[in-house]
Parts: sequence; C-alpha cells; structure tokens
Amino acid sequence: MTTPWGEFSLARFPEDQRDRLRAWDASDEYLLRHLADQDVVLSGTVVVLGDRWGALVTALAQHAPVQITDSYLAQEATRVNLARNGIEPGTVSLLTTQDVPPERIDVLLVRVPKSLALLEDQLLRLAPAVHEGTVVVGTGMVKEIHTSTLDLFERILGPTRTSLAVKKARLIFCTPDPSLERPANPWPYSYTLPEGIGPVSGRMVVNHAGVFCADRLDIGTRFFLAHLPRTRGERRVVDLGCGNGVVGTAVALADPAAEVLFVDESFQAVASAEATYQANGVPGHAEFRVGDGLAGVPSGSVDLVLNNPPFHSHQATTDATAWRMFTGARRALRPGGELWVIGNRHLGYHVKLRRLFGNSELVASDPKFVVLKAVKR
Ligand SMILES: C[S@@+](CC[C@H](N)C(=O)[O-])C[C@H]1O[C@@H](n2cnc3c(N)ncnc32)[C@H](O)[C@@H]1O
Repeated sequence: MTTPWGEFSLARFPEDQRDRLRAWDASDEYLLRHLADQDVVLSGTVVVLGDRWGALVTALAQHAPVQITDSYLAQEATRVNLARNGIEPGTVSLLTTQDVPPERIDVLLVRVPKSLALLEDQLLRLAPAVHEGTVVVGTGMVKEIHTSTLDLFERILGPTRTSLAVKKARLIFCTPDPSLERPANPWPYSYTLPEGIGPVSGRMVVNHAGVFCADRLDIGTRFFLAHLPRTRGERRVVDLGCGNGVVGTAVALADPAAEVLFVDESFQAVASAEATYQANGVPGHAEFRVGDGLAGVPSGSVDLVLNNPPFHSHQATTDATAWRMFTGARRALRPGGELWVIGNRHLGYHVKLRRLFGNSELVASDPKFVVLKAVKR
C-alpha cells in the first residue's frame, strides 16, 4: 500500500494462499491521502476505530495510534503487519471494543463497520472522550455509508457531512459538539427467547452490539436448537462461532455434566456468550475464548462441535471460513467425535463434510435449512 507515510507490505490474517485478497481498500487510501493533503495534526491521542486489517495503524504508526477493534482476526493481522513492516509492537496500542476507551481523544478515525449497531455502541462509548477540538474523520466504501450511518455521527458527535466519492470510497467529516444531549446506549440488548425451542425456551439472551442476529432469534439457529444431539454425559463440547452463545447455553442447560467451550473471533460475541450463560445461572463448566476457530484447542480433545458457520454475501470469504472451521473441527475431535452443522440448504456443506470426514448424515431439513452430522473416524 502506497501512502504519504511510505510503502507498506500488508496481508490479511490468516493469509489464504489460494485467495490473496488485499488487506486494504480505496477507503483506507482516501483517508490517509486526506490526512496528508489537509495537514491534519496527528498529535495527542489518535484513535483508529474498526481498522479492518491494520492498514491504517500501520501507516500511521509514527503517531502512536490506539486501535479499537471487535475482531480478533483484525487484531492479529495488525500484529503481523506491524512486524512485517519493522514496526515495534508497542508503538500501536491494541484495544478491543470491550476495553475501556482512552479518556481523551484528539483525532478519531473511523473505518465504518459493517454493523450499524456496533458503530452506534462504539461512538456512544467514545463520545465522552471527544472534545470540541477533536478531529473526526470517517471512511468507507460508498455502498457501506448510508443516511443512517451519517445520522449516527450527527446524533452522537455533532454536525456531519460527506466528501465526494473517489474510487467508490467516501469520507465523513464530523464537527464535535460537546453540548449535544447524547442518547442512552441501548447496548447490550437482552430479550427473552420464545417457547418451544428446547432447554433455552423462555430463557434470556444477551447481545452486545454487532453480534449475529442481535435483536431476535435467527431462524437457522432456531432450527438448530430444535435438532441438537440428545446424547448426555461428561464430554467436551465446543460452540464454534458462538455469537450470543445461545447454542452452547442450550447444551449446558440440558446436560450439566458437559463442559462447554464458547469460541468466536468477535470480542463482542464472546462477551455476549458469557453474559447469556451467566444470566441463566447455568450449572456446570464453561470456558469463553476469543480466537480463530479451533486454533489452540488440542488435537483429539473434543467430543462434539456445534457450528453455524458465518455466511456473508462475499461467497469466497464464506467458503474459506466454513472450510477452516470444519478442518479445525476434524483435527480437534477425538475418534468417534461428531461435528454438527446448520446451514442454508443451497450452501452444499455436505460436500465439504464428505470430503473431509468421509461421511455426512442429514439429521433434519426443512425447505431452507439442513442440519448435518459428520463423525470423525
Ligand atoms: C452465523 S453466526 C452464528 C452465531 C451463533 N452460533 C448462532 O447460531 O446464533 C457465525 C459466527 O461465527 C463467528 N466467526 C466468524 N469467523 C470466525 C472465526 N474465524 N473463528 C471463530 N468464529 C468466527 C462470527 O463472529 C459469528 O458470531
């Protein structure tokens, strides 16, 4: 990436040799060029919110920025990218969306996140640290910036306008108005689950901003809950890509002897899963871990993996993550251990499972979803 601060070599994390997608885009370049062209003073505390793969903080490393992200993969990418460009790890402070933000922010750079809820929550959390003189600049691709996005900046921080589009990217300029009466933060959001979904019927689910399907039970998850394995006993279960933790909590409630590991790459998700679990006073043992799939889980140590893989419109990304999750599950399962997957029928997960495990059984189906089981032989 060529920037006014020099040239940087950047990669996504984990690097996919088959699919070398760039680790930055036109919105990162536009923001960096704007900062240089306008001689924006990058002193005091510079905060970068939502940097996708660490491109922004790597380029701005000499200004000792603070990065705030919800994504473990983004944080790891940043660590790797700083190292590959010879930047000392301590130069950039790496915070998560769950950490206490800096007390005073002098420059706030926002790579607009996919989730409007996450943007709302984060702007509300950061607003008390923003002062009249804070420079606030947002950036994103035109298709990611909506009227609702600008409304959030306007309602939470102050008067907001946008730039012209350049290479399908746009900047957001916001002039902080500390006298604004800010709305209360609606996150985390809790609701009661419907009846008829097994052990979590009528239970509470807690959602931090940005988690998958935060305001209602996803219909795929609902179908999965109705068809979870009925075996019980002392065993190690993983809720892989746990989101708000409703699936793992259902297992823990039905089977107090089970030890459940909740894993997600989103800090907001793991915090939600832990809060959901706590809110229901579940007996038994649980562990909550932010990480990339089953990385770090010992081989052959797990009896059951439950997985509703992420599904985005970017088909290539979708396939790669599901494939990595299934591969990780195969490694982490003991012989005879099972991977249970819920997916949209058209995604054809059975093909992947057959290739990896040599078997795939249809447990349940409706016109939209399938629940599949693969056994490690
Ligand atoms: C479709 S959601 C399922 C959430 C929840 N299990 C449910 O059914 O409601 C997929 C989840 O996978 C998580 N995820 C995506 N990539 C991941 C990765 N590499 N490692 C762990 N979790 C990941 C997402 O953050 C998201 O919470």
